[in-house]
Amino acid sequence: MLICRRISEVRELVRTERGTGKIIGFVPTMGYLHQGHLQLMREAKKDCDMVVISIFVNPAQFGPGEDLERYPRDFERDHALAAEVDVDAIFYPSVEEMYPPGFNTNVDLNSLTGCLCGKSRPGHFRGVATVVTKLFNIVLPDRAYFGQKDAQQVLVIRRMAEDLNMPVEIVTVPTVREEDGLAMSSRNVYLTPEQRRSAAVLFESLKAAEKAVEQGERDAGTILQLVRDMISSVPEAGIDYVELRNISDLNPVEVIDCPVLLALAVRFGQTRLIDNTVLEV
Ligand code: PAJ
Repeated sequence: MLICRRISEVRELVRTERGTGKIIGFVPTMGYLHQGHLQLMREAKKDCDMVVISIFVNPAQFGPGEDLERYPRDFERDHALAAEVDVDAIFYPSVEEMYPPGFNTNVDLNSLTGCLCGKSRPGHFRGVATVVTKLFNIVLPDRAYFGQKDAQQVLVIRRMAEDLNMPVEIVTVPTVREEDGLAMSSRNVYLTPEQRRSAAVLFESLKAAEKAVEQGERDAGTILQLVRDMISSVPEAGIDYVELRNISDLNPVEVIDCPVLLALAVRFGQTRLIDNTVLEV
């Protein structure tokens, strides 16, 4: 497996491989890899001839006071995990390589980014859209893989790629979970053992909402109350948001009469976790 620290190196590598007709798959990450990331890589390996991943903790998507400095990093561990799924190359740039002095351009969406995580984390999706644009332009992949765990991120990336005519197919991979249902996340390592146990309530509340819809409940307010009550019953959990939104434009919904995104963000101590499910009728 090749490790490229320079933009010029990864460009050269991909150019050579594409020249021989290979289909290039790309999995952008911020590292501290877990089975969710590895599932994206496995899917990419299935579909593509060459798989490039990136490991870059992108400062532009962290707000002031967020966890940029303490975000977990362990390149040796990530390298070993990527080797297990037979990734072909890791693009592992420095902050200076990605944002040299004079950097002065951002990619911003007009909508989709003002609600849910975009509301709690102003500027977050500008940072994501900008770095993903840069990564796409550097790697020039045929396909890029994103997790449904970050449902709003996938919508933003899909919209951006379509609007800006990026020649890349966006593939969405279902959320990979721990045994008790907690969505895998690099941030789960922040949780104390007690918070980790309590965090199972997130998945349980999503399941309870799915069940209520299955049993005929269609009122958004009732479903939201059910989820909020379940989460609030856990003393350590602080709700950031629990919302029901239209799956394509993220507008709020009152009645569940088509597939609807149930998305939540909840704090356990300092740690903010997100999860979601699509409620189908
Ligand atoms: P990161 O949080 O490292 O996630 C990288 C990719 O892994 C994202 O597409 C995310 O949705 C996916 N992922 C994370 N946990 C998952 C899980 N439990 N199941 C399935 N997929 C999961 O998302 C980012 O990094 C950054 O915003 C990035 C796109 C790299 C831009 O900086």
